[in-house]
Amino acid sequence: MSYQQIFEYFSPTRLISGRGAIAKIPDVIRDQGLRRGLVVTDPGLVAAGIAGRALDVLREADVPCTVYDRVEANPPFANVDEAYGIYVKERCDYLIGLGGGSSMDVAKCVGVAAAHGGGWRDLVGIGKCRNRIPFLLCVPTTYGTGSEVTPFAVVTDLETRFKASIGSPLILPHAGVLDADLSVGLPLPIAGATGMDALTHAIESYVALTASPISEGLALHAIRLIGENLRQAAASDHNHEATERMLIASTVAGMAFSQTRLGNVHAMSHPVGGHFGVPHGVANAIILTRVMAYNLMASPQKFAEVARALGEPVEGLTTMEAAEASVEAVYRLGQDVGIPDGLAGVGVKQEAIPTLAEDAMKSGNVLINPRKTGLRDIIRLYEESM
Ligand SMILES: [Fe+2]
Repeated sequence: MSYQQIFEYFSPTRLISGRGAIAKIPDVIRDQGLRRGLVVTDPGLVAAGIAGRALDVLREADVPCTVYDRVEANPPFANVDEAYGIYVKERCDYLIGLGGGSSMDVAKCVGVAAAHGGGWRDLVGIGKCRNRIPFLLCVPTTYGTGSEVTPFAVVTDLETRFKASIGSPLILPHAGVLDADLSVGLPLPIAGATGMDALTHAIESYVALTASPISEGLALHAIRLIGENLRQAAASDHNHEATERMLIASTVAGMAFSQTRLGNVHAMSHPVGGHFGVPHGVANAIILTRVMAYNLMASPQKFAEVARALGEPVEGLTTMEAAEASVEAVYRLGQDVGIPDGLAGVGVKQEAIPTLAEDAMKSGNVLINPRKTGLRDIIRLYEESM
């Protein structure tokens, strides 16, 4: 707590969690007196029948809604424009974001457009929104983003390949529903990548210069839950308990980094997603161990705590040895859930590193990384991550 002496905690999202919790959505909508919703989701969830299950709940309860189901991974600006066009045409007055971070983030951006007369692109950046978005209920179906409780949305400008963030408390979702029945049996590549994204959120938030006693508690709890449950959730199509705990871990990590923001890993992974389409969680998981090793000397006590939270036997070790064990523990977890070894293996080209590094340096996350970091450091970290 030396970086900032005064801190706030703000998290207004109503959360409903449990198996079958989507059955509560019609009541939440009726409580608000809302008319017609736009459900924002992706084709994969439609094909898997998961979107249909959620939509059946709404239809059976006579809750009118329209569906936009063309959200892409690393969603382009055009997804927001298309979905907003439907929102206006169908005279919707609230939003449901159903899926991974991409669907929830597109829903947030549609909300920004609706709250500002359509001109949402001028509001890309931190703190530029002026008006609260319409009622937004998020239903995360992966273990990843925590977007259901965060004031951030990330969308990609296809002209520059830059992943742009909108950050404002005005875009915080009003409600979130965590239903393990929708997420149990996620395909391994999605479970592994999104679970490692949540772990990255928790670790980056925990060690960030902006951490507070509240965010640290949330982040450590998320790290512990992920260490205890990600393997089991990823390894089985039937482990509802581990799945539910992973959904909660992702949300709790989201609550932590909503307060602190993140660090070098996210600064570096966003350009990798923007330029090469690498799934966000995969890029994070690969870069995470390299950035942790870089950061150890700035905050050895905290990394020793990360090792302890991940169940590493650290008794008898020096603080630095325990801190090093955290890197090894994260590496092994990534290996177990199918994370590739390096960025070269997922299509990133060595010659792009200078461009990636320049984009990474535009992120405010570099400034709150525990070890100070310049352009040369980022270039070296990319090289080590290849
Ligand atoms: Fe992330």
